[in-house]
Amino acid sequence: MAITKQTPLALDPARMPRHVAIIMDGNGRWAQKRALPRTAGHKAGAETFRRIATCCKNLGLEYLTVYAFSTENWKRSEDEVSTIMRLFETYLHEAIDTMERDHIRLKILGEQARISPELRRLIAKTDEISAHYDGFQANVCINYGGRDEIVRAAKKFAALCMEGSVTPEELTEGLFSGLLDTAGIPDPELIIRPSGEIRTSNFLLWQSAYAEYYFTDVLWPDFDEEELKRAILSYQGRNRRFGGVK
Ligand code: IPE
Ligand code: IPE
Ligand code: MG
Repeated sequence: MAITKQTPLALDPARMPRHVAIIMDGNGRWAQKRALPRTAGHKAGAETFRRIATCCKNLGLEYLTVYAFSTENWKRSEDEVSTIMRLFETYLHEAIDTMERDHIRLKILGEQARISPELRRLIAKTDEISAHYDGFQANVCINYGGRDEIVRAAKKFAALCMEGSVTPEELTEGLFSGLLDTAGIPDPELIIRPSGEIRTSNFLLWQSAYAEYYFTDVLWPDFDEEELKRAILSYQGRNRRFGGVK
């Protein structure tokens, strides 16, 4: 089914995904179009994340996972990287005050050794608050790469083997999943990439094995509730076979 701007956005409540993931791409081009610095695009993108997380919660989803900064994004200018890192700190500071009121649990995924001690401290604090309640959870991927996550999980498994708590023969897909950053979180049924790029850019490589993808030309700061619903509507029209026959 082709989803156009005219398609009525009536979602089937019985076929809602539990977990939607989004590659928040297009901030730089959004800013460029307005003759603003790229960093203004990242600020606008952070606001969009806030709005879309609330939409996801209100639609009854259980998890939203967003790609905010990849293991490859360190290649950007020092100015852009440090502005993005400061934005994360500001965002987490605010989230620590509002999480309980808004009932949005927050989890940061990704490798933490390379990020600032202040950011690590804020992440530990959000984890602590999130542990106190359940409900909708937003996962934000910072210094995240799908390959890096798999390598870190492999190292954890090797360490378990070395200490004798498990043998290589006992490794299963389930056990390995439990060593990833997304341990305990169901795989996303739907992955959305705005900005017109049609690639995964190292996002959720393991978890996306059977995800449905949705690509749109809309730039992330312009992404809104209607776009989200359009993506979910497209997902609801897919025939998910998981290798079987339907
Ligand atoms: C996504 O937007 C944000 C990050 C990758 C940090 P971009 O900054 O990649 O925006 P474009 O792709 O240059 O438009
Ligand atoms: C993917 O976007 C990473 C994030 C959105 C955080 P990029 O802009 O880094 O991806 P490429 O470089 O176009 O593949
Ligand atoms: Mg980009």
